[in-house]
Amino acid sequence: MTPTGPSIALIDVDKSYAEGGRTHAVLTGASLTIAPGERVAVLGPSGSGKSTLLNLVSGIDLPDAGTVRVDDIDLGGLDERSRTQFRRDRVGFVFQFFNLIPTLTVRENLALPLELKGEDPGDRIGELLAQVGLADRADSFPDRLSGGEQQRVAVARALVHRPGLILADEPTGNLDVDTGGVVVDLLERLVADAGATLVVVTHSASLAERMDRTVRVDRGQLVST
Ligand SMILES: Nc1ncnc2c1ncn2[C@@H]1O[C@H](COP(=O)(O)OP(=O)(O)OP(=O)(O)O)[C@@H](O)[C@H]1O
Ligand SMILES: [Mg+2]
Repeated sequence: MTPTGPSIALIDVDKSYAEGGRTHAVLTGASLTIAPGERVAVLGPSGSGKSTLLNLVSGIDLPDAGTVRVDDIDLGGLDERSRTQFRRDRVGFVFQFFNLIPTLTVRENLALPLELKGEDPGDRIGELLAQVGLADRADSFPDRLSGGEQQRVAVARALVHRPGLILADEPTGNLDVDTGGVVVDLLERLVADAGATLVVVTHSASLAERMDRTVRVDRGQLVST
């Protein structure tokens, strides 16, 4: 049976940032539920709070008020160490600018999430590199790869430790349409194989259409469309 990623619930979440003596409310009474294994696109203008939403769901940030729950874990009830552990064990990230570690080879970049989780890589890294079509680049450093290749490594890195939850912040934002399409194909296939829950921030209508559902960040609220 395919494993299933976690459910996500945000209940009446407020999140603001203080800046220059002023408070800027990003989310106000925002609520959202995502089903296990669902794939959700998050849309909204720049500065609306899309990355903030991902930071809350991954426990990088805590809400000022309200609840963020992943399965039955209330992230607000965990101390920082437990939240770090939660992220290492259960979350995989893909970023707009790939965020590979430049001083590590492709293989070493992929080994890192496994090491942090305390798992032996075994054949896992080679398997995943083959799945993203980069088996022959294991010993390359990231700056030797094209943008699309780096993002394929980043997709492999996000999934290598078998997290149930994948968070992607504009994963095609720095790629041309064709290269972005290849990356989304891979992300979609690997997420489906893993049965993971996927939350992807994007400005791409075509990427959003391929997800199960779209959520728009609109004046501090999360609106399902
Ligand atoms: N750590 C922080 N400190 C101060 N303000 C912050 C912080 N993080 C985010 N903000 C502010 O919160 C608002 C929402 O930011 P966020 O990064 O979530 O937007 P976004 O929707 O992801 O935008 P973009 O599409 O440009 O990436 C912005 O006004 C931003 O300046
Ligand atoms: Mg953002």
